[in-house]
Amino acid sequence: MAKLTEISWEAFESLPLEEKKPYLELPGGDGMPYHTLFAQQFDRANLERLCALANRIRFINKSKEGALYLKNVLSHKRAMLYFSQPSSRTFLSHLAACQILGMTTGSVRDAATSSEFKGESHEDSIRTFSSYFDMIIMRSPERGLAEKMAWELSNSERPIPILNAGSGKDQHPTQALLDIYTLVRSFENKGGLDGRTVTFCGDLMRGRTVRSLSYLLTNFKNVRQIFVAPQELQVPADVVMILAKKGIDFEVSDNLKEATRVSDAVYMTRIQDEWDSAKGDSSKIDTSNFKFGPEELALLGPDAIIMHPLPRRDEISTCCDHDPRAMYWRQMRNGMWIRAALIAATFGFESSIMNCGY
Ligand code: ASP
Ligand code: CP
Repeated sequence: MAKLTEISWEAFESLPLEEKKPYLELPGGDGMPYHTLFAQQFDRANLERLCALANRIRFINKSKEGALYLKNVLSHKRAMLYFSQPSSRTFLSHLAACQILGMTTGSVRDAATSSEFKGESHEDSIRTFSSYFDMIIMRSPERGLAEKMAWELSNSERPIPILNAGSGKDQHPTQALLDIYTLVRSFENKGGLDGRTVTFCGDLMRGRTVRSLSYLLTNFKNVRQIFVAPQELQVPADVVMILAKKGIDFEVSDNLKEATRVSDAVYMTRIQDEWDSAKGDSSKIDTSNFKFGPEELALLGPDAIIMHPLPRRDEISTCCDHDPRAMYWRQMRNGMWIRAALIAATFGFESSIMNCGY
């Protein structure tokens, strides 16, 4: 098995993402990740296993006895939530997932409150956290930082797993897991996810959830992807290249109504203006045709769903919120269950939970 201790950072960094996967696997975990850094670590087999584990945890947690059993699973482990970018859902759902499994947690929610503010390097900060905790869940504005930190920790005296909770404009793999879990659950009694059409709409250029989910969808058969955005915010070339290379059926469009009519899921996203090079740049883009409101709702199929990673601004009208096809609230809660599944699997507890008597 490939090991991060046997490859230099420079050699590892230069590998294509798929070739990095074996270095990040859980020993003896049958393809489950140890460090979770990007969507390319997941294939259909481990996605289905994680969805099954999330369903199992969800079910077990319904009874008091089951919840107490789960609370004992990782009561000997501690997690550090290291978030140097704002977050509500990803922070809280990881926290709740840790609590379900009995883990205790610590957190930094703003680098200005850690000794990084005094000039400590990321490497030293991470080493510090690993002295007290058994896992680091990290969000950072820096692309690739979680990868570098995973390599550093695996080459330290206290190797512990890293979960990437959002890295720059690049990837948000655990969001993509909850998105897949939501899609799988939404279509499980309606013929499954294979053969479906998923539309992404909004800021596709800078939305990291789009890159991660677009990749995960390639694990399913004949899932067509439609990218609807103003030209300036269209899906980036690296995503298009992956889809083209894998022979995925996709389309680039500026017509949300047309796309809605033929979609099984419409995945709306927010304009990511925190990345504007000059303040207010995004507000010069006409986004009026890239919002989901009553007219789009009327065009949406009866079994189709509306998704959003959240937070939302005005790209989905609140008049859609009580429609049974609005999946974004359930999608958010699904994040807690799939993250609990990922954390349990990372520590090697997949089969004991799957086979427990609850
Ligand atoms: N919460 C998601 C992210 O952190 C989406 C967003 O912020 O628009 O990428
Ligand atoms: N979806 C998501 O990542 O939300 P937060 O930014 O609130 O964590």
